[in-house]
This record gives sequence, C-alpha cells and structure tokens, in this order.
Amino acid sequence: MFKVNENYLKLPGSYLFSTIGKKVAAYQAAHPDTEIIRLGIGDVTQPLAPAIIESLHRAVEEMGQAETFRGYAPDLGYAFLREAIARNDYQDRGAEIGADEIFISDGAKSDSGNIQEIFSTDNRIAVCDPVYPVYVDSNVMAGRTGVYDPARETWSDVIYMPCTAENGFSPEFPAETPDLIYLCFPNNPTGSVITRERLQEWVDYANKIGAVIIYDAAYEAYISEENVPHTIYECGGARTCAIELKSFSKNAGFTGVRLSYTVIPKELKCGDTALHSLWARRHGTKYNGAPYIIQRAGEAVYSPEGKAQLKEQVAYYMKNARVICQGLKEAGYTVSGGVNAPYIWLKTPGSMTSWEFFDYLLEKAHVVGTPGSGFGPSGEGYFRLTAFGSYENTVAALERIKRL
Ligand code: MLT
Repeated sequence: MFKVNENYLKLPGSYLFSTIGKKVAAYQAAHPDTEIIRLGIGDVTQPLAPAIIESLHRAVEEMGQAETFRGYAPDLGYAFLREAIARNDYQDRGAEIGADEIFISDGAKSDSGNIQEIFSTDNRIAVCDPVYPVYVDSNVMAGRTGVYDPARETWSDVIYMPCTAENGFSPEFPAETPDLIYLCFPNNPTGSVITRERLQEWVDYANKIGAVIIYDAAYEAYISEENVPHTIYECGGARTCAIELKSFSKNAGFTGVRLSYTVIPKELKCGDTALHSLWARRHGTKYNGAPYIIQRAGEAVYSPEGKAQLKEQVAYYMKNARVICQGLKEAGYTVSGGVNAPYIWLKTPGSMTSWEFFDYLLEKAHVVGTPGSGFGPSGEGYFRLTAFGSYENTVAALERIKRL
C-alpha cells in the first residue's frame, strides 16, 4: 500500500493566500452587488509595458518560422537573458556576478520553495517572523521543521527571528545557530529595509558560522533611498555564503507571465561541493526552462525603453503606497513600510486581532488586505495592504477606510 508524504499532513490550514481567496469569494457570493477592492495579495494590476509586449510579439513570430523556431530552452536559461541580468543587475552595480552563475526559472515562489532541496534535511532554518509563508511551508513539506505548536503557531525546529516595531522590523542574530537563513529585503510583508552596513554584518555572521543566506530580493526595484542594498552581492564575502532570488513579477508585472532567476556564486561550497553544481543538477533533471518567448520578454526589461517604462510603472505603484500611508495616518493608524517597498504594514486598531480586522475591513469597507498573523506569530495585531492596486481603487479604498 502506498504511503503519502506525511509531512504534508503537518501543515496547518491552506496556503495563506488561498485561504483569503476562499473567504473573499464566499463573501462576494453572499453579497453579489458589493464592489470589493482587493489590496490583499501582492498581484500587479498594470498591463505589461509596451517594450515587453513588442518583444513578446517578435518572439511569437520567430516561433512561427522554421528558421527561428526554438524547442527546449537551455537548462539554465538563454545566454541573452543571463548576460543582460549579470550586466544590469550586478556588474553595473559593482557586484561580481557572472552570467554562468544565474539560473533562469519560472518564478521566485517556486525557486524559494525548491531551493531547500539541495540542503540536508537536518539543517536548521532561521526565518524572520513575520515571514513570506513559502519559506516555512516548503521546509515543512521536506520534514525539516519538527513539531507544530498550534497555540504558539510555531515549529519546534525552526529558529524564529522576531521583526517587531522595537527592532524596526529588522531581525537580530538568533540565540541558536542556524544553517540556512532566509532574509527578504525590501521585506514582504512589513515593507521594511536593511542598511548596507547591517546586511554586511549578516554576511560576516553567516561566513563565521558556516551558514547560507537565502536572500529574496523580489522587491528590489522599489528601493528609493540611499544606503539600501539592491543585492546582497554588494557586501564583501557574500559570494561564499549567499544565494539570491529575484523575480520579474513585481518590477515588470510578470505575475501572470512567470519569470525569475536565482544566483548561486561558484565559490559557495560545502567542503568541496559547490551548491552551483547541485542546483544545476536539479534544474537539468526537473526543469525544462522558462519558455523562449518569456525569456525574450525578460530581456526587454533591460532595454533602454523597457527600463524607462518600468521606472514609470514602479512610480505608479509607489504613488499608491503614498496614498495608503497618508490615508491611514489621517485615519489615526500606526503605519510603516511603503517607502522602499510596495507593502504597507499597519497596526490593527485597539485590541483587534489581525483576522478580526480582516473581517471588519471586508464587511464594513469591502476592502481586502492580508492579516499579519498569517505571516507568523509576531505579525499578530498587524495588517498588510499592497500598493499593487489601480490608483482609482487605492484612492477609493482609503476613502472607505477613512469613513469607518
Ligand atoms: C504576496 O502577496 O505576498 C505575494 O504576492 C506572494 C508572492 O509573490 O507569491
């Protein structure tokens, strides 16, 4: 008789955004005439930039001609895209990353969930609390997290690094020694950032204890302030301790297109074993590459026109962020984030829990956000709004919230 992977049975409830989706769908079904404004999941709303659309069209035409048709993509991605990434996202910033250290993939969510596969199951992971749920859930599925405590909503073998108002939503070094450290800056969900000096301290710490930092830089395009690092490889020593994950979803609106990349420097080793080789082996075995058409769309992100258009798109969302921050402050909320990130993190009013506030906002303002406790116990009493809505909807949502 077959057996299932029992680790899956340990997972409490469904994936956070599936739970919210179901709740909102049920509310909409019961109130069909209500116009709900969705500022919950960080999904983009603006159309793809013209430079990207043109590139997609050209690639589609190529696929219709025998001379230019392409079948399987190279395992690790097309050179034209990997070279554009290496030059624009790293070398032009003074970070020493080569095209052959970049692995093209179909999304940072899948890469952040899959990357743990190349590590032993007895590695201890450390995560920020609150945290993007994929990091923890994918380690639960792998059997790396121990026993779940429903009262505390924590796993016995996970090291939690509380990110609270007191520490500026930036983690401190944990008391226990981790093997894998997940960091995400600009942060999802709190919208906080880390300074270059502080990130350097994390890199030094990881090198000292022999840990790997899995650095999620999905929201890098939203950085507006100086002294906030755009990549972990701006820090000396990161090549021997850091993997970086990067998405095209948030900077270029690819949530429905799917494209991302992971960087693994060749010096990142466990003894003689290079993590680069393990991830290349995994990619070659389990993955047939992001489609040619999509990789050409990704290349357009780095064209002069693409860059200019995407700068405008990011500015559009950040205008929403300002509307949200300003509106919430006017309504008396305590607010952070929204300056270098498309997420606004607010304290729920009075003694309301995150889920109570979710229901309250849905029922009274017909606005959907994300309960902070869904990201971890330290998120309790907080709530996340995203700047990825349309400007009109964002303004309308804040008007509704102010009227409460
Ligand atoms: C979020 O809302 O946290 C993100 O959209 C989730 C994701 O990028 O997968």
